[in-house]
Amino acid sequence: MTKICCIGAGYVGGPTMAMIARKCPEVQVTVVDINEKRIAEWQSDNLPIYEPGLLEVVQEARGRNLFFSTDVDQGIRDADIVFVSVNTPTKTFGEGAGCASDLQYWELCARRIKEVSTSDKIIIEKSTLPVRTAEAMERVLHAGQNAIHFEVLSNPEFLAEGTAVADLENPDRVLIGGHETPSGQKALQTVVEIYATWIPRERILTTNVWSSELSKLTANAFLAQRVSSINAISALCEATGADVSDVSHAIGTDSRIGPKFLKASIGFGGSCFKKDILNLVYLCETYGLQEPANYWRQVVTMNDYQETRFVRNMLHSMFNTIANKRIAIFGFAFKADTGDTRESPAIRVCRELASEHAKVVVSDPQALDNARLELPELVDQIEFEEDPYKAAEGAHAIAVMTEWKQYKELDYQRIYDSMVQPAFIFDGRNMLDHQALFAMGFEVYSIGKGHLTHLK
Ligand code: NAD
Ligand code: UGA
Repeated sequence: MTKICCIGAGYVGGPTMAMIARKCPEVQVTVVDINEKRIAEWQSDNLPIYEPGLLEVVQEARGRNLFFSTDVDQGIRDADIVFVSVNTPTKTFGEGAGCASDLQYWELCARRIKEVSTSDKIIIEKSTLPVRTAEAMERVLHAGQNAIHFEVLSNPEFLAEGTAVADLENPDRVLIGGHETPSGQKALQTVVEIYATWIPRERILTTNVWSSELSKLTANAFLAQRVSSINAISALCEATGADVSDVSHAIGTDSRIGPKFLKASIGFGGSCFKKDILNLVYLCETYGLQEPANYWRQVVTMNDYQETRFVRNMLHSMFNTIANKRIAIFGFAFKADTGDTRESPAIRVCRELASEHAKVVVSDPQALDNARLELPELVDQIEFEEDPYKAAEGAHAIAVMTEWKQYKELDYQRIYDSMVQPAFIFDGRNMLDHQALFAMGFEVYSIGKGHLTHLK
């Protein structure tokens, strides 16, 4: 029986391993983590992450061939294949601070693997890493006298939060990079066979390690770039009377452009887009490629601009003062169907509103616990209220930050009647029926469209 160990029981390690265990009952999968609370939650029905459909996948395999444990050493020792799926955040100190990847968690894993292993293993980079990280890992793994062979592969993950189960069940592609050596190719085939259990072979792409590592950073950079591109156009739409939804539709029907990832918004969030682009920028700079570095950095600059612009528009349209005004934030997660708030645009929006002395009330169906952790300095100043009706009561304005389906279905007449007049709504997701809201009496502001106002 093939034994897999995955180090890191986070947003990637948990769901990906649960799917492998579900699809391959003959493979034993153990997910290990140093975070005891997380492991205990994976062992319960109160999973540590909110992801639609995930509990059913976990329940099907857990206890059969899917296990969660804090015994990292035992997990590694028993395994034939070790996936490393630890966090790789942006470095906050020293050289490359604010840009480079912080690889300390990855390296610690490599050292641990080397320390405790008693048999040959395939080591798989599941985390998103700078290109050529595998080289450094091989040096760590093979340093000194060691008869054990570690074959390092790259298998980046492309799932998106909120749709992780569907993405894992039916991915556009799986990418596996291996060395062009007999042992590299053999290891690569072993991993191909696992995925081929449920994924058509033509969707399993194999490359060398460096192409695989770089493809992951490139995919995220291209996706984020599309969001920044349409957001740049949204600012021009507001200035000119064009409608960004019409522009998105018109360009998206060109099969060379395609319709996806063209929704103008408050800006992209999530733990990866910004960090991966900054990592790409740092890599370019490391190789002396300043123009490519500048090109990609602009995608992040544009995103910062979009977030700041949103708050500025709120302030200006509410008569240049929001001090002591109650503002209800609808949604704090960085996108719908997740409780993840990492790099959510709502963080900056709340901070900037609070700095203008607004009374901020945050509402979200899944992310309030994380929201409190994101705003430690404001936790006594900001109200957290799950019920959007209560959040909006007595408010001067609502700002929609997350495209939760339930926000479409609210009784906005009831909300309008409970608010201070004139009642403003700022739709950072362009998801509401703006004409209907305007007819109720709202002052309606959205992204990349003219605003609808009753004020003369
Ligand atoms: P996460 O922070 O949710 O999970 C990482 C886990 O690793 C944590 O639970 C942490 O306790 C554990 N860990 C850290 N060091 C450890 C060690 N030495 N031993 C054992 N456990 C350790 O992170 P995530 O969102 O799952 O992301 C993991 C990687 O996957 C990152 O490189 C990220 O860029 C990439 N990625 C994330 C997503 C996503 O949707 N979140 C998608 C694709 C790729
Ligand atoms: C993204 C990628 O889509 C995944 O392929 C990748 O694996 C993952 O990053 C990762 O490496 O972490 P994720 O961040 O979970 O997934 O979610 P997305 O659906 O990509 O959305 C990212 C952000 O862009 C969200 O804030 C979303 O609201 C925003 N967005 C997306 C827009 O503003 N407009 C769009 O048209 C699309």
